[in-house]
Amino acid sequence: MSAISAVVMLALFLTSSPLLAQTSLSAASLKGALAPYDLRVEYLTNPLGVDTPQPRFFWKNRHSERGQSQTAFELIVSSSPSADTGDLWESGKMSGDSSIQIVYGGKPLASNRTYYWKLRIYDSEDKASPWSEVARFDTGLLSPSDWKGQWIGSDGLLRREFTLPEEPRRARAYIAGLGYYELHLNGRRVGNHVLDPGWTDYKKRVLYATYDVTRLLRQGKNVIGVMLGQGWYKSRALMFELYIEDASGKVTEIHSDTSWQTAPGPILEDSIYNGETYDARLEQPGWDRPDFAAAAGWHQASAVEAPGGVLSSQMMPAIQVIETIVPLTMTNPAPGVYVFDLGQNLSGWAQLRVSGPAGTDIRLRFSELLYDNGLINQENLRSARAEDHYILRGDGATEVWEPRFTYHGFRYIEVTGFPGTPRLDSLRGRVVHTAVSPAGNFSASTQILNDIQHLILWGQKTNLHSIPTDCCQRDERMGWMGDAQVTAEEAMMNYDMAAFYTNFLRNIRDEQAADGSITDTVPHIWGQRPADPAWGTAYPLIAWYMYQNYGDRRLIEDYYDSLKKYVEFLRSKAENGLLKYSYYGDWVAIEKCPGSLVSTFYYYYDTKVLADMARLINKTAEAQAYDKLAGDIKAAFNREFFDPKTRSYGPTQTANALPLFIGLATDKERGPAWSELFNDLVYEHDSHLTTGIIGTKYILDVLTSTGNSDLAYDILTRTDFPSYGYMLKNGATTLWEIWQKREGPSMNSHNHPMLGSIGAWFYRALAGINIAPDSVAYKKLVIKPQMVRDLTHASGSLSTINGEVGCAWSKGDRHVKLEAVIPVGSEALIYIPVFKLRNLQLTEGGTMVFADNQFKTSLPGIKSIEAKGGNLIIQVGSGRYAFKLTGE
Ligand code: BGC
Repeated sequence: MSAISAVVMLALFLTSSPLLAQTSLSAASLKGALAPYDLRVEYLTNPLGVDTPQPRFFWKNRHSERGQSQTAFELIVSSSPSADTGDLWESGKMSGDSSIQIVYGGKPLASNRTYYWKLRIYDSEDKASPWSEVARFDTGLLSPSDWKGQWIGSDGLLRREFTLPEEPRRARAYIAGLGYYELHLNGRRVGNHVLDPGWTDYKKRVLYATYDVTRLLRQGKNVIGVMLGQGWYKSRALMFELYIEDASGKVTEIHSDTSWQTAPGPILEDSIYNGETYDARLEQPGWDRPDFAAAAGWHQASAVEAPGGVLSSQMMPAIQVIETIVPLTMTNPAPGVYVFDLGQNLSGWAQLRVSGPAGTDIRLRFSELLYDNGLINQENLRSARAEDHYILRGDGATEVWEPRFTYHGFRYIEVTGFPGTPRLDSLRGRVVHTAVSPAGNFSASTQILNDIQHLILWGQKTNLHSIPTDCCQRDERMGWMGDAQVTAEEAMMNYDMAAFYTNFLRNIRDEQAADGSITDTVPHIWGQRPADPAWGTAYPLIAWYMYQNYGDRRLIEDYYDSLKKYVEFLRSKAENGLLKYSYYGDWVAIEKCPGSLVSTFYYYYDTKVLADMARLINKTAEAQAYDKLAGDIKAAFNREFFDPKTRSYGPTQTANALPLFIGLATDKERGPAWSELFNDLVYEHDSHLTTGIIGTKYILDVLTSTGNSDLAYDILTRTDFPSYGYMLKNGATTLWEIWQKREGPSMNSHNHPMLGSIGAWFYRALAGINIAPDSVAYKKLVIKPQMVRDLTHASGSLSTINGEVGCAWSKGDRHVKLEAVIPVGSEALIYIPVFKLRNLQLTEGGTMVFADNQFKTSLPGIKSIEAKGGNLIIQVGSGRYAFKLTGE
C-alpha cells in the first residue's frame, strides 16, 4: 500500500460511522447544560504578547438541549487568576447572541502584564451557565519606549550572563532575531518555534515573539544564548528584552546591547534555498550555560543598523516541526549514494542519526523527483541547491542533527559521504510549517475525492510558512498573491486561518504605496508593482473572506480606507470601465482567456466587495457610489467581451465561467455563455478542465449553482490528462503547479497549492455546508449536499468560529440518511433531495416527523419541514440531528 492510501485509509477508518462521531463533534464536547468553551483572545488560545489596545474575546457555546442560543453574557477581566471581580473590566450582563469579536471595554491595558478572564452566559430561558474556566492573555510591549535594547550583530552565537539575587516570580522574554533565531536560557532551548520570526518586509515591520521564561531562570548566575541565522534578511541582527519580576514586584530588565559576547558557531553556511552546513567540531559545549570559559574568538557584539520596521508582536501560530516521518524505503542507486523515500512530498528537513570519524562530511540533497535510475532529480528546483552538510564531531557517540535555518520541499533525500552504510532509521523526515490547527474534515465514498483532498491538505499546509507561499522547494517560496487569493477559502475550511491571514493582510498593507498600488508578492521580492489585478485582489478578497468566515468586522473598519485606495488605484488605471493590464491572468491554463477579461472581472469583484464593506460599516453613500461603479464596469465588460456573433465570452472555459460566477452576465448573456461553457466542458473536453488557477477557482461553483454538480463530479473523477486524477496516477502526493507532467528544468513545481482552490467545493457542495447568504461566520447555515451520480456518502465537519458544524449523508436503495450538527446559537435550513421517491416519510432519531406530505410531530429544535423543488427542507435550530428519508 502506498503511503498516501495508507493515510487515506486511516482517515477513513477514523471518520467511519456513526457518521459524525469523529472530530470534535463527539458527544463529549456537547454534554452538560450550557457552557462556554474554547476561549480565545484575538483568535488565539491564552496568547502571549497581545499588542492590540482593545483585544477581542471569542468563545464557543455548548448546550445539551437543541434549539438553544446565548441571550446574554457576562465577562470579567482581572489582574488575578482567582478573582471573582474584574478589576480591569466587568462587562455586566450584556444581552446579545454573539460569542465572537467581543471587544474589550475596560481600563487601559499595560505593557508586559498577564490578565485573566472568564465569563458566563445566559441561555434562551435566561438561565446562567456556571463560570467558564479562567483563560488568560499577556500583553506585549505596547510602546516603542518599552524596547530599551539596541540592535546588535552576531557572528553566529550571542551570549549574555547576568546574576539574579532570587528566583523570579514572573519573567518574559521578547525577541526579534533576524533573519532567524534560536533562543536558549541556561542551556535549555526556549519554546518550539522554528524559522522564527515570521517573514515581513523588515523595513516596514519586524515581528517579535514573547516567551514565558519564569521557570528557566534561577537565583545566581544565568545565561541567555542566541543563535542567529540569515533567513530572508540575509544578515544577522538581534533585538531582545527580558523583563524579570521578583516577589516584591521589583523589575530587572536585560536587553541586547554591545555588552553581549559573540563568536562564530558551528553553522558555516545557512541559506533558505541552498541549505545549511554545520560543522559539529566547531560546537562550543556550554556556551549557553553559566561558567562557560569563553575561548578565543569571543568578543563584544557591535551595534548594527536597525532593520527599519516597527516592532510588532507575532500574533499567529509560529512555524514548528509538526510531525516526523519515517522513510518508506532506502535504495542504493550508485556506489556510496543512498536515496531515502519519505512517501510524501513535504516542507521541512531531515534529521540525521550517525556516528563516525570526526570531520566526516555527510551531504544531504533534497528532491521532489527521481530519475528512472533511482537518482534524485533536482532539475525543477532551478537555482536552489537544497543541500545540507553535517560534519561529524566524531566523539564515538551517536550524533543527532537537523538544520535550523533552512528548509526544503522534498520527498526524497540523497545521502552521500555517510560513514559505512546508513540504515532506514538513519534519517527521519521533519514536516515543518506554520502550526495552524486543522479545522475541517472531509471524506467521501469515492476514493479519488479523498485522494484529491490529501493532495490539497498537504499542498496547503506545507505552503504555510508565516505567509502563504507559492511553493516550498525551488528558488521562490514567495507570497504570490494570486496563489494566496485562490486558496484562501479552501484554507479557511481546512485550517484555522484567522490569525494567519490577519497577519498577512497587515503585510499587504505594509506594501501599499501612496498611489494605492500593491505588489504581486508580499513581502515584495519577486513580481511587479502594481500587482496583476488577479494577484492584487488578494487584498480585498482575503479581507472579505475574513469577514465572511470569522465575522471580522473590525478588520473591515480598520482596512477600509486602504482597500478603497486600492480600488481607486484600479479605477485610475481603467479605460472606459475596462482594466486591461494583466501579466499572468488565468495562469497555467491550458486554453488561456484574455488577461484583460480576467483583470476586468477582478476590477468588478473588488469594487462590489468594497461596496459591501462600505455598507457593512454604514458608509451608505460610498456603498452606493461603488455599486454604481460596479454597474458601469459590468456594462463595459459585456460590451467588450461578449461576442454577439459567437454568442459567448470567448472559446475558453474561464472566459464564460467568470461572468457566470459573479453575475456579470445579464439575462441576455447568461444562457448563451452557459451553453458555450457546457459544450466546451462536455463535448469538446469530455469533462476535463482547461482552466488555469483563476477559472479553476470558480468553475465548480458555477456548475453547482446551475444544477450541474454531476458534471463537476465527472471532472473531479477523471484520471486522464488534464485532471487531478492524472496527477495522482503519476504519483503526486501534493498538488502540481501545472496540469502537465513535467520533470525537467522548466517551471514545474510538484507542490503548489493553487489548484487546490476546489477544496472549498468539497465542503460546500458534497458535504453541503454553506453559510447562508444573509449571514456570516456560520451563524445561519444552509446544509444542501449534492448527492451526485454514484457517490453513496460524503461527510464534512468544520470547526468554525461559532462552533462545530457537520453534515454526513448516505444514500441507498429508497432511502437517504443525513446527520447534521448545528452549533449553539446557529440555525440551519437542511435540504434532503427526494430523488424519485414518492410517499415520503422522514424520521429524526427514529421518530416520524414528516409523512403524508405534512410536518407531523414537532421535536425539539425542528421548526418546520416542507417538500419543495425536489427537496425536503427542514428548518432547525442548534443541536445534533439524524434524519432518515424513505419512500417508494
Ligand atoms: C509562481 C506562481 C506565481 C507566478 C506568477 C510563479 O513563478 O510560482 O505560483 O503566481 O509565478 O505568475
